[in-house]
Amino acid sequence: MSRTPIIAGNWKLNMNPKETVEFVNAVKDQLPDSSKVESLICAPAVDLDALLKAAEGSNLHVGAENCYWENSGAFTGETSPAVLKEMGVQYVIIGHSERRGYFHETDEDINKKAKAIFANGMTPILCCGESLETREAGKENEWVVSQIKAGLEGLTSEQVSKLVIAYEPIWAIGTGKTASSDQAEEMCKTIRETVKDLYNEETAENVRIQYGGSVKPANVKELMAKPDIDGGLVGGASLKPDSYLALVNYQD
Ligand code: G3H
Repeated sequence: MSRTPIIAGNWKLNMNPKETVEFVNAVKDQLPDSSKVESLICAPAVDLDALLKAAEGSNLHVGAENCYWENSGAFTGETSPAVLKEMGVQYVIIGHSERRGYFHETDEDINKKAKAIFANGMTPILCCGESLETREAGKENEWVVSQIKAGLEGLTSEQVSKLVIAYEPIWAIGTGKTASSDQAEEMCKTIRETVKDLYNEETAENVRIQYGGSVKPANVKELMAKPDIDGGLVGGASLKPDSYLALVNYQD
């Protein structure tokens, strides 16, 4: 089974609609064919309209950074998955450590979001990852496996086959400290084995697993050479067109 690599930028709370259009215009003609590498940008909700319009007809895929699990109702300030779908969004990041930490999202919230995203015909990018404290205590596998089990609760093997999982050790996010490619591979392999135990071999072979945490043009090739790493979820290095292009064109 060959999985299409997926390199995703996570812009976090950066970029405005004008900068978004400038970025897309600078990259859109130099992106790899989507059958070779999927190039994705996940942007703040307020930039999505501009991003979708600018990316139309190009190889750039569009994702959101978060959404709610209800499609409508009295939920002030939330983003509807149904509206994201209607706009043309394909992916939604859920469970990023910044959402878990600063906004107190629980595994249960994240699981409800995964179900709502699938119900609306989009693909979740389910983030997981341990803190430095957890790794130093030698409990990183236990921690990540429990996040995966809770995040996947009640999802079908068909859904999980389409899912993207992003392993992002918190100690490597925005710190310039990348997990070594062996550390990243080891955890991505553990995640794939967990999916196999929960579902079956075929589902585990289909699920795409990204590594995130200080991914940059200088280390993307080494990470992507690992058998269980199918992509990157990239913060800082996805904000500049040149560096984003170097990431998505890592095979050249
Ligand atoms: O979602 C992306 C991660 O938080 C990684 O961010 O590439 O700036 O370390 P970073």
